[in-house]
Amino acid sequence: MTMTQEQLKQAVARAAIDYVPQGIIGVGTGSTANFFIDELATIKGRFEAAVASSEATAQRLRSHGIQVLDLNSVGELEIYVDGADEITRHMHMIKGGGGALTREKIVAACSKKFICMADESKLVDVLGKFPLPVEVIPMAQSHVARELAKLGGQPRLRAGFTTDNGNVILDVHNLVIANPVELETQINQIVGVVTNGLFSQRPADVLLLGTTGGVKILR
Ligand code: 5RP
Repeated sequence: MTMTQEQLKQAVARAAIDYVPQGIIGVGTGSTANFFIDELATIKGRFEAAVASSEATAQRLRSHGIQVLDLNSVGELEIYVDGADEITRHMHMIKGGGGALTREKIVAACSKKFICMADESKLVDVLGKFPLPVEVIPMAQSHVARELAKLGGQPRLRAGFTTDNGNVILDVHNLVIANPVELETQINQIVGVVTNGLFSQRPADVLLLGTTGGVKILR
């Protein structure tokens, strides 16, 4: 039986519930993360609270009656659960399609384990087909765009979008990302960049991959 992308997302979100510890959970952003939040609502008594990677996620968690804590008021989290726009077998990811990349990277950095949920269309050999989101301080937009073009990409301003941190997003098209660890550092060194959507220095630890044959677990 073939499954739709939505059904695959729902299946991986359900599988991620097995990783939920008793304490505080880091929760990602996006449609797959939303399915996960809805699943969390069914096991509310089994964990303490959540830390959200975006205002949208915080709102959805609260709408289910799940307590949302400030990251600064908690210690290291056991797990961070989130989706991705692309992921390789080395667990390197492109994230930020929903524009929440900076807070996602912060919560991920504070978590012992990153559980990535993705449907099989997101698994790639080389990152870069999905335009790489870069969060930028508004006054630096033109400067950063020129610097990104020097790296071989074609940056485009995400029109009408402001991040939760009050910044803009440049989506960088046509990058062939042969060395994600190096490129992540290189882009972050451009003055005016807040962060970029490469998650390779802190890759995922577990990938729950939704396939029509079931959820596969990659480590
Ligand atoms: C948001 C993200 C999301 O994880 C990514 O865009 C995947 O989204 P979806 O689950 O809707 O496919 O990084 O900033």
